Amino acid sequence: MSAAPALPAAQDEVVLRLANIESSYGPIKAIRGVSLQVRRGEIATVLGSNGAGKTTILKTISGIIDPRKGSVHFQGQDITAHDPAAIVRRGLSHVPEGREVFPLLSVRDNLLMGAYTRPDRDAVARDMETVYGYFPILAERRDQDAGLLSGGQQQMLAISRALMARPELILLDEPSLGLSPRLTKEIFEIVVRINRERGTTILLVEQNANMALNASDYGYVLENGRIVMEDRCAALREKDDIKEFYLGMRDAGVRGERRWKKKKTWR
Ligand SMILES: Nc1ncnc2c1ncn2[C@@H]1O[C@H](COP(=O)(O)OP(=O)(O)OP(=O)(O)O)[C@@H](O)[C@H]1O
Ligand SMILES: [Mg+2]
Repeated sequence: MSAAPALPAAQDEVVLRLANIESSYGPIKAIRGVSLQVRRGEIATVLGSNGAGKTTILKTISGIIDPRKGSVHFQGQDITAHDPAAIVRRGLSHVPEGREVFPLLSVRDNLLMGAYTRPDRDAVARDMETVYGYFPILAERRDQDAGLLSGGQQQMLAISRALMARPELILLDEPSLGLSPRLTKEIFEIVVRINRERGTTILLVEQNANMALNASDYGYVLENGRIVMEDRCAALREKDDIKEFYLGMRDAGVRGERRWKKKKTWR
């Protein structure tokens, strides 16, 4: 949280660096020259409306999409277009949009899938107890098929499955999607707790700017595949453009697509 005291020097270390990334779907350019950095121990966020390119950024980082241009460095190593499984083994886990749990596997087996790269079975068992501590409902449902869980519980399971790989960095794609405000708040609180207690670095993409700006340290604003603004979240929350376009503007309808696209300059 931005109001926290100054971070120790080690946390200024950049763990993830994107330089001039361009990613396309056939002829459609989704990301047009995105550069961003995530520092160790922080929660960074990319805010953007529908179709801005948030998911494409995360898929490019985790190797699901190969960029046309630019580079991705993780912990000093070039991982651009590497195999997704190899990227997970380096300590980078991706919680995809829409959770994507294995519906016909039990909660417990979903968690074990998250740890499949790890040989240390005793530690895996301990980590499973740790994630059950974060999300006690998953412990109650451990023997049930994941497909029977509610949307919120599946989101909890998807985050927990990522944690089972003991990642250095978690990519989190719109955890609030389709969830009630209460559940969203609950999940964000646990994400912040995981960051604080385990020191796990998090890159979160969200349309829910309110939750994301409150939970994160540093933020980027993405519009039509380009970063148009970046700052510490405490500063972003005070900016008029952010208030107007992202943080619950009062005048109904103002947030429409037409008005949004007219906006050219960001202050
Ligand atoms: N598989 C695909 N094939 C073609 N175009 C795609 C594909 N996936 C995404 N796009 C396009 O790429 C652009 C960026 O999409 P992306 O999914 O990254 O946006 P997003 O910011 O995650 O949006 P949302 O908030 O709706 O999830 C959009 O114009 C989208 O229509
Ligand atoms: Mg998306």
